Amino acid sequence: MTPAEAKKQIAALRSQVARHDELYYRKAKPEITDLDYDQLKRGLADLEEKFPQFASADSPTQRVGDDRAQGFKEVAHRQKMLSLDNTYSEAEVRAFHARLVKLLERDDLRYTVEPKIDGLAVSLTYEEGKLVRAVTRGQGDKGDDITVNALTIASLPRELARGEGPSFAKASAGRQGAKGELPRVVEIRGEIYMTAAEFERINAERAAAGEDLYANPRNVAAGTIKLLDAAEVARRKLAIVLYGLGYCEPEVVGSQSELRAQLKAWGLPLVERIWPVRGIDEAWAAIGELDALRRNFAYGTDGAVVKLDDFELQRAVGSTDKAPRWAIAYKYKPDTARTRLCAITIQVGKTGILSPVAELEPVFLSLSTISRATLHNEDEIRRKDIRVGDLVEIERAGEVIPAVLRSFPEERPKGAKEFNLFEAVGGKCPVCGSKIARLEVAAEGAEGVAWKCQNYDCRAQRAGRLGFFCSRRALAIDGVGDIVAAKLVELDLVRDPPDLYDVPLETLATLNLGTAEEPRIFGEKNATKIVAAREAARALPLEKWLYALSVPDVGESTARELGRRHRNLAELADSKLLRTVLEKARLLEQRELEAPASRKNPAKSDEDKVRRKELCARLDAEIAVLDAGPLAGVPQDIGPAVAASTLEFFAGTPGKRLLAKLRTLRIDPQGTVMEAGLFTGKTFVLTGTLPTLKREEAEQNILAAGGKVSGSVSKKTSYVLAGDEAGSKLEKARELGVPVIDEKELRKMLKI
Ligand code: IVH
Repeated sequence: MTPAEAKKQIAALRSQVARHDELYYRKAKPEITDLDYDQLKRGLADLEEKFPQFASADSPTQRVGDDRAQGFKEVAHRQKMLSLDNTYSEAEVRAFHARLVKLLERDDLRYTVEPKIDGLAVSLTYEEGKLVRAVTRGQGDKGDDITVNALTIASLPRELARGEGPSFAKASAGRQGAKGELPRVVEIRGEIYMTAAEFERINAERAAAGEDLYANPRNVAAGTIKLLDAAEVARRKLAIVLYGLGYCEPEVVGSQSELRAQLKAWGLPLVERIWPVRGIDEAWAAIGELDALRRNFAYGTDGAVVKLDDFELQRAVGSTDKAPRWAIAYKYKPDTARTRLCAITIQVGKTGILSPVAELEPVFLSLSTISRATLHNEDEIRRKDIRVGDLVEIERAGEVIPAVLRSFPEERPKGAKEFNLFEAVGGKCPVCGSKIARLEVAAEGAEGVAWKCQNYDCRAQRAGRLGFFCSRRALAIDGVGDIVAAKLVELDLVRDPPDLYDVPLETLATLNLGTAEEPRIFGEKNATKIVAAREAARALPLEKWLYALSVPDVGESTARELGRRHRNLAELADSKLLRTVLEKARLLEQRELEAPASRKNPAKSDEDKVRRKELCARLDAEIAVLDAGPLAGVPQDIGPAVAASTLEFFAGTPGKRLLAKLRTLRIDPQGTVMEAGLFTGKTFVLTGTLPTLKREEAEQNILAAGGKVSGSVSKKTSYVLAGDEAGSKLEKARELGVPVIDEKELRKMLKI
């Protein structure tokens, strides 16, 4: 791999990891398994190691994930809350031990093996035995103050009991005060979780309100603790277990196993059991024992944590920025089950892609009953040789939708036929009966073929688009989940998403999400929520609306870039900028064809060669003019494919219909266009590493505002934009009295 390729790859991986961090920590809606996540991160770490020139302090490999939400006060932890390194094999667990043996130069190491609770990390601070604060892990050094919400947890003691724990034993050994004396300050670490029963109760309630269901208890626990409404938190029963120590003054215990006894003496809820062991063979055996027991626990567990028992030794080996060297997590294989594949049904998504879904004989797996699983796509079904009637193995990796892993062809019923999607749907969209077309797709690195419903007005596509329009990342019209969206479309109340504005409150309130025999009325409260949210959405900027309207090829970041370069939808629909992008693509194509050495069209004579050389020079000049002028600072996101599909979309019936509707509704989202020429005539010099903007991004922003970027500082330089480790350019600027700004100031000037 060349450094340029590595740089690109690193950037791509960082943004993928950041997205999954956001989904997991902040939204509590992960899309991939922990294993896939770790592999992604390892891939990134490997590359950063091989190409250290691209390493960066703000890479996700250098940080603890960030779970902070808006609306909570931030509080610093007295002792940092670290995360744990994950391992997936016995060999990795043994390697952990080998590392410690080497570091400590002794092999008689004792460990504790403990369940790894699949909840939400929390740190409780008790002062003189009184609970004063509960804080989430946050970024490790500081987290959200969730005290009010934590106080709704019934099993959480407000005061520590003065029971006889190791601190008492120590006291008699002269290390601490009299019996029952409590530490002045102690941070106690644990996990907040939700029981399976409570989880089911809440999901049933959400189903009744037409809201999307939570995927698993961990997600609900995480979502609940971050609600700003403590009364709602109290209604959802959370629970807590404690297993660790942060800052403690004075010190009361000297080891992990003593700590457990102390936590017990203080009257705190503990994990069912821990295994104090000697050496790594015993630890590995304990990991196996725990696996056999853990499904009976009240909380979900996805692994075991192996910790060096003795605190002195823990301190001796220390921690990295992210995780202790004295502990690791071992992740169990996700639970699997066998069941019968009864049928393969076809779902149609918002873009019209037909995806196969496995309809299963219901089977109990990882705390819930499963009757459907994803089959990804037709190629995958072929590759895994999965047929209707087969016995199949399904996997539920904690967080995500269950998937079909494999079939057992040796036990296949006679006559089971290979699955053919086109035949299964009779060549038509199973929802609207329209034609379907083959589409080459590249998903997750694999090439494949998908079938797509060609009818933009297909009910499934409409419902998909409406659900998306209302989703958090789009216009955040809470209350319109997939079920409500489907209902509104089914009743023909909504054709295009903005039609939602025409549905009266009473109609929303009386929606029946159940059946005629068993009605489930949506209700006034939920309906009012929708009305308030849709009104609030009117004021959202162009970028949000553009994303929400499902313009083909326009994802979140493209929408942002377009939103910053257009004043409103009308301007975008007939975008000069996008036409210029297409014009440049046309020139480039011509340039390739006219090149004298073009393979498709080689020069026929010397004369021809000369003529074409001149033509190419002219084309190059034209392209250069575009690059320096209207296209200066335009990022790659806005390429010919995006330009073509956006212009085409707004010129076609669906786009025109949307624009007309928004006009009638008097919704006119505004772009966040930078004042043209803000930096006209100004020259910038960049030096050092900026905290969040990449160098190219900063440059693009300056160029887009009409400024120039130069490589060296002179008296003519308007500003030096300096980041970390700025070098001689910064010194020169100071010498010459050139103003020096940082990223924050640049952002302020540009309003970005
Ligand atoms: S020890 C500094 N023990 O898992 C040591 N953590 O994936 C880190 N977790 O941040 C904590 N059960 O929130 C420890 N028995 C246990 C745990 C546990 C769950 C969480 C904890 C940690 C995360 C790392």
